[in-house]
Amino acid sequence: MHWWQTGILYQVYPRSFQDSNGDGVGDLRGIIARLPYLVELGVDAIWLSPVFTSPMTDFGYDITDYTGIDPLFGTLADFDALVARAHALGLKLLLDFVPNHTSDQHPWFAESSASRESDKRDWYIWRDPAPGGGPPNNWLSEFGGSAWAYDPASDQYYYHAFLASQPDLNWRNPLVRAAMHEIMRFWLNRGVDGFRVDVIWHLIKDEAFRDNPPNPDYRAGEPPYRSLLPVYSADRPEVHEVIRGLRAVVDEYADRVLIGEIYLPVEKLIAYYGADLSEAHLPFNFSLIETPWRADMIGCLIDRYEKLLPPGAWPNWVLGNHDRPRLASRLGLEQARVAAMLLLTLPGTPILYYGDEIGMSQVSIPPGQVRDPWEKNLPGLGLGRDGCRTPMQWDGSAGAGFSIAEPWLPLAADSAISNVESARADPASLLNLYRRLIGLRRARPALSRGAYRPLAHTQSLLAFERAADGERLGVALNFSAEASDSLILPEACAGAVLLSTTHERSGEVIAGPLTLRPHEGLIILLDSKAPAP
Ligand code: NOJ
Repeated sequence: MHWWQTGILYQVYPRSFQDSNGDGVGDLRGIIARLPYLVELGVDAIWLSPVFTSPMTDFGYDITDYTGIDPLFGTLADFDALVARAHALGLKLLLDFVPNHTSDQHPWFAESSASRESDKRDWYIWRDPAPGGGPPNNWLSEFGGSAWAYDPASDQYYYHAFLASQPDLNWRNPLVRAAMHEIMRFWLNRGVDGFRVDVIWHLIKDEAFRDNPPNPDYRAGEPPYRSLLPVYSADRPEVHEVIRGLRAVVDEYADRVLIGEIYLPVEKLIAYYGADLSEAHLPFNFSLIETPWRADMIGCLIDRYEKLLPPGAWPNWVLGNHDRPRLASRLGLEQARVAAMLLLTLPGTPILYYGDEIGMSQVSIPPGQVRDPWEKNLPGLGLGRDGCRTPMQWDGSAGAGFSIAEPWLPLAADSAISNVESARADPASLLNLYRRLIGLRRARPALSRGAYRPLAHTQSLLAFERAADGERLGVALNFSAEASDSLILPEACAGAVLLSTTHERSGEVIAGPLTLRPHEGLIILLDSKAPAP
């Protein structure tokens, strides 16, 4: 088994984790200082959102130098120190690789846009205006408006799936591929343990640039991008060959991992493991974020995903990230505890987002303090991502232990009472629940690598079994604020409680009908002498 299969991943958003130099923005030295916390939490690896040289129009997802560290975050020497320290503490470190687009200030784009004859013209996606004038086709930018920006000097448009300041690279060009592969080797040679690859399903666009069809399910008020189905601008069949190329580079090194960011339903997502598992080791599975929080729907989702996974493919589950509203605000604090138990008992690699382990909430950002370009482009649609990117709440001090300066985004109003320090001291805190769950997952192979078997799902209650090496664990979760439906456990599902999300009841024997308390999740060590039904 590989470390990325049995281990737990934790996403750090570097701007907001720890500021070490008093400028209000987190940095690499800050992350180094906080590594012991991650060891204490019990995670195995961290993945860092981008720390490369960037004008920060999309907070680092717009890169001008793929092998440089932005001075805001520190230096290459700081980065090397981070890798060394993480490894010394037994933690793996993954970088965010952003190959779909660069910044418009990248020297490659400067050269490409200099003239139609430029050697690097074909490194980006340039097209003539449509026959009657205007953009070459109807493709939309995720961040609002046409995905084509006009360049009057050459009378052509370039394509940008995101901001106009993030022109898409042309991955059909072998020179682009070779340059990107070299960049991956640069970081792999420095010891990074793999990559999370940004918008990997966008890398290749339709060769004929056909118009995207309208989305029949589009509703007024939704982001305009959703008004079309992006069938020609993303998830193209040719993307798989490109991903195999990225994987081949990662495979030149021992025991590294390739993770792909992909927002697709599980039916389409699984194609990104690739034929013979030759693409992403872990195509990010965001379906827990996208599915309504109901036991029956989540139960069906797990069953569907399990059935669809190609032989040998390793599952993964994500509860939150820097692009989606905070878990505790989506589900409420009580259900955030149930979600924690679900995440850490499901089969496959669990991926945590910084701060979710202390129940950080979505912070409402006053209009004058909005930083996210998506919100700025499309105000009022609730798309802003600043609220899930606010500084980590370490302690109850004025700067929450994050910074001595005014932080780049406002702190949550409750940071004086809701922080790592207060959570550590409270045995019933969400943080301590996470620690116990992670401890159990580590101690019980049934949880980290055992087989999964559904036991039941009703509207409010989800129950399943995990089993390995003759040990069987039952997990039962109540998704509602009422006592759950009563579940008649087969005789073989009797056992003793290992952990409850709501009460201290370790050791209590469970047999016969099981009713969970409101918002309760239970892990039960099933009687191994009884035969599995
Ligand atoms: C996906 C990233 O997660 C998001 O934060 C970013 O804005 C877009 N890709 C564009 O790079």
